[in-house]
Amino acid sequence: MKIFSFLSRVNLKTTIQDMQRTLVLESIEKIGETVKEQGWVDTVRDHGKITFIDLRDRSGIIQCVGQNLEKVTVESVVEITGKIVERPEKLINTDIKTGKIELQIEKLEILSLASELPLPIDTDGYDIDENVRTKFRYLDLRRPRMARNIRIRSKVTQFLRNYLHELEFVEIETPILTKTTPEGARDFLVPSRLQTGKFYALPQSPQQYKQLLMVAGMERYFQFARCFRDEDPRKDRAYGEFTQLDMEMSFVEQNDILDLTEKMFSTLVTELFPEKRIKESPWPRISHKLAKEKYGNDKPDLRADKNDPNELAFCWIVDFPLFTEQSKDDFFYGSGGAKWAPSHHMFTSPHPDDLGLLEIDPGKVRGLQHDMVLNGFEVGGGSIRIHDPKIQEKVFKLIGFSEKQKAQFEHMLTAFTYGVPPHGGIAPGLDRFLMAVLGETSVREVMAYPTSSSGQTAVLDAPSEASDEQLKELGIKLDEK
Ligand code: AMO
Repeated sequence: MKIFSFLSRVNLKTTIQDMQRTLVLESIEKIGETVKEQGWVDTVRDHGKITFIDLRDRSGIIQCVGQNLEKVTVESVVEITGKIVERPEKLINTDIKTGKIELQIEKLEILSLASELPLPIDTDGYDIDENVRTKFRYLDLRRPRMARNIRIRSKVTQFLRNYLHELEFVEIETPILTKTTPEGARDFLVPSRLQTGKFYALPQSPQQYKQLLMVAGMERYFQFARCFRDEDPRKDRAYGEFTQLDMEMSFVEQNDILDLTEKMFSTLVTELFPEKRIKESPWPRISHKLAKEKYGNDKPDLRADKNDPNELAFCWIVDFPLFTEQSKDDFFYGSGGAKWAPSHHMFTSPHPDDLGLLEIDPGKVRGLQHDMVLNGFEVGGGSIRIHDPKIQEKVFKLIGFSEKQKAQFEHMLTAFTYGVPPHGGIAPGLDRFLMAVLGETSVREVMAYPTSSSGQTAVLDAPSEASDEQLKELGIKLDEK
């Protein structure tokens, strides 16, 4: 087994070397050598006999120059063979890393000729119709700004993953086909074929599964979790799906969760965004009441200069009320007209000092909820959870759960009778955090394939109709339109 995996690694390496492809950026070290480079034609400048091609690959752009070349369009994929030479002093371009050299084309092979693109990709793209951008997302992602955002996103997930593994967190995947989870938005439903008439719900978050992992003794869990919510999109809210760095820990107090998260994100900023400055460390911790009084909202923008793209003002909001009064316009999945809805979610623990108020004045009970705020955006939320089934029952009652609704969460109450550690967690939203750090205009600018604001998926044009056979198998009849 060992020998096999060793050999497969060796073979892989040989294959890469056999390609003998030189990356654009590697050219800097290859002056005087003949190289073969592959990539996209970023620009073409035709000066009669002489043609200049800027060749682009994942590492950068290099100017290539040749004579009597076959006609090639921008964005075509080409292979260029030739010699790397130094440019004369006065032709040096200080704007690009390869500005001191150029590739003298000996052979140009067109691997794939590009038609004219349906949208420009050499601009920042903000002014282009978003539907066009998402329809041709694979082109939109060639845009330098978007390519950079997606690559930074990968660096950020890699950092967080490594950081949490170092701290003995276990990365665990939880089901996507599941049952309704209470985060306060509408569910996406998936019909079951094997049990006609029944539906799965896509998870609004892995909340229940992660708490059950604490019952299971995992102690420290994380996951880059895809969450599905049917709610109106906004600049900071994706329609349909988004990603959380979902975390849960056992034997912790609220302070431990805040400290760990704060340290992790501060280190991330220092290592991956060295040009950014964190305004205040430790991050200010502000009570919900004070935030409302002083700033008029619970996600204050504490930047000294809101025009400074490099200022990051983090803070924590704590001491939220456990409940908010339900309004008729709020969507809360079935509370039967009760007065109270959970501020965060129904598993959030009341503040131990306020337990006595649960029966007499629920509106005054504080919850052990914490929100992580960055530059005026709520980039994360979490809490210490209820681990006493009796308190959980009380909360169910106050939010007006019927016996039937309660029965939907029976597994939690049951699980908590078999030895549950005190636990809590947090879920920073990856998309929203990236949007705030990068100063982007919407969460969709940091997602590879965002759903449009009208709910249409990128490129693949879902939702779409199901065939009569599919519907029949699922036992579904549609109303005539
Ligand atoms: P909550 O619902 O507060 O908590 O979500 C946590 C974080 O997820 C991000 N977020 C979104 N990002 C983009 N588009 C959306 N539609 C969207 N909705 C939420 C935000 C938010 O702060 N299970 C709990 C967490 C916990 O208690 O541990 C939860 O999901 O950044």
